[in-house]
Amino acid sequence: MQIDVFTLFPEWFEWFREQRHIKNLIDTGLSLETVDMRATTPIANNRVDDTPYGGGAGMVIRVDVVEAALRARYEQDPVELVQERRVVVLSPTGRPLTDSLATELASEPAMTLLCGRYEGFDQRVHDHFATDVISIGDYVLSGGELAAMVVIDAVTRKLPEAHGDERSALEESFSQALDGAPEYPHYTRPAEFRGWGIPEVLVSGNHGEIESWRRAQSESRRNQREKSD
Ligand code: ADE
Repeated sequence: MQIDVFTLFPEWFEWFREQRHIKNLIDTGLSLETVDMRATTPIANNRVDDTPYGGGAGMVIRVDVVEAALRARYEQDPVELVQERRVVVLSPTGRPLTDSLATELASEPAMTLLCGRYEGFDQRVHDHFATDVISIGDYVLSGGELAAMVVIDAVTRKLPEAHGDERSALEESFSQALDGAPEYPHYTRPAEFRGWGIPEVLVSGNHGEIESWRRAQSESRRNQREKSD
C-alpha cells in the first residue's frame, strides 16, 4: 500500500515511522511519505491560510494551497485524481472511523491523507479534492496529524503483512468474526495474583465451552457499551 500524508508538520511523522510495527511494514513494502503543503504554496511569504469569509475566529487553509501541493505530488488535476485514488480529509465533521471503514481502506492500493490545522480546510477541498472526510471521534484535535496516524495505524494493521499470527487480526474487536462486538477478555499467567483468579473455563481444555464463554463475554461488553452511549 502507498500512503501519502499532506501536512504542515511533516516532522510529526518522523517518530511514527520509527515505531516498530510501522517500520516492519515499511520494510515489507508499505510506502509512507509526507508532503509539506507549505513547500509549494503559491502565496507570498509561505502563507497557507487566510481569514474565513463571513468572519469568525481562526484561520482556514486555502484551496489553492492544497491544489498546488496535490498537483506537485501527482502531476495531475486533483479533480481527476479523486477518480482513481482515495483522498481523505481528516476532520471532526467527517464520517466516523470504524473497523469496517479501516478494512475497506486497507483494500486500496493507495491513499492520500490531508491534515488540516486551525479551522481546517476551505470547504472546496472537501467538495472537489477528496473522496472521504473521516473523523476519529467527537472531539476536536489541534490538527489532523494525530487523526491521520490513528487512521494509518488502524488501516495498516489490516494488511496481511502486519500479522505473524493471522488469527489475531481476524478475531479482534469489532471484526466480522465477532459479529461487530468488542473482543472478549484475555488472561495469562499467573493464574492467581493478589487473590484474583481467572475464569475456570479457560483452563478446562473444553474448546467449545471456551468459545461460547468468549462469545457471551463479547456480547456482554457490547451491551455495556450500548448502555453507556
Ligand atoms: N482534526 C481535528 N479533530 C479531528 C478529529 N476528531 N478527527 C479527525 N480529524 C480531526
